[in-house]
Formats: sequence, C-alpha cells, structure tokens
Amino acid sequence: MTNNPAPYKHHVYSDVSQLPEDILELLSKAKSMTDLAYAPYSNFLVGAAVLLENGEHYGGCNQENASYPLCICAERVALYSYGAAGVKTKIKALAITAFNTAKPLTEPCMPCGACRQVIQEFEHRQDRPIDLYVTANNLEAVLHISGIGHILPSAFSYNDLI
Ligand code: THU
Repeated sequence: MTNNPAPYKHHVYSDVSQLPEDILELLSKAKSMTDLAYAPYSNFLVGAAVLLENGEHYGGCNQENASYPLCICAERVALYSYGAAGVKTKIKALAITAFNTAKPLTEPCMPCGACRQVIQEFEHRQDRPIDLYVTANNLEAVLHISGIGHILPSAFSYNDLI
C-alpha cells in the first residue's frame, strides 16, 4: 500500500492476525465471492460480504453486462441481497476485496462513489454506522474505516428530502 497516508480517519492492519475472528471470517467470505464474480469485460473481480450482528453473512460480487452502464458492483449486490432478505438484524461490518486477473493490485479496493452513497443509506436505515474492511486478494494489509461518513463527507442524504 502507498506510503501516502489517506486523508481520512482509518486504521491499517498490516498484520491480519490483529483482526477479530469474525472479521477474518468476513474477509474470507468476501474473498471467496471474487470466485463468483462475473467480470468478463474488466477482468476486475470484486467480492463483498456483509456481517450481521448475529454472525450471519450476505455475499455479493460484481455482475457485468455487455451494455456497460448496467454493471453492478459487488458491494451493492451484497447490501441489496441483505435488504431483499427482509431481516431485521443490523449490519455490523462490510468487507470488500478484489482480484485483477491481469496484475496484482497495489491498493485495497475502495468502494466507488455510487456504493458509498448506498452504504450511507443502509447506515441510515439501521441508524448505526457500518465498519468497512477493505483489502485486495493479493494484499496482506486491511484498511478499516469506521463508518461511511469518513469517506463520504457532506453527502446528499435523506436529510435533504425532509
Ligand atoms: N467494482 C465493484 O464491484 N466494486 C468497487 O468497489 C469498484 C468497482 C466493479 C465494477 C466493474 O464490474 C469492475 O469492478 C470494474 O470497475
């Protein structure tokens, strides 16, 4: 990872053994989701996994389309799959990882702007921030961001509509 510190509050775990067991399992679930990614156009396979407060997981991976704008990111697939399950248990954490078939990644796979907006909505729905754990399959380090507000400042939100 870059030596340039990110301009937002975060913590880098360079030694994953410092991470709690449930987060290690979540990261492993996210990594396994990259195997299911459908990304024949970008060859950029992304896996995401949601961890609920009761330990349940919801996984997602990117789904591409020949009509490029229809591609959907792994994070949204995971979050919407949780949303569609209709469960009431809150989300504790979201793990994101990626694998580029062409070259090793040098940075963790940060969520795109659209996914940040969607993560914000899920935080609002449950009135609780979601811990983000971001990495890449070929990286040791894991970036922890304790809530989307750190990487989506001054966002448009439900507050703008009331
Ligand atoms: N992608 C994700 O699934 N999540 C991200 O956080 C970044 C980008 C996907 C979308 C597209 O299928 C491919 O990665 C290249 O942009």
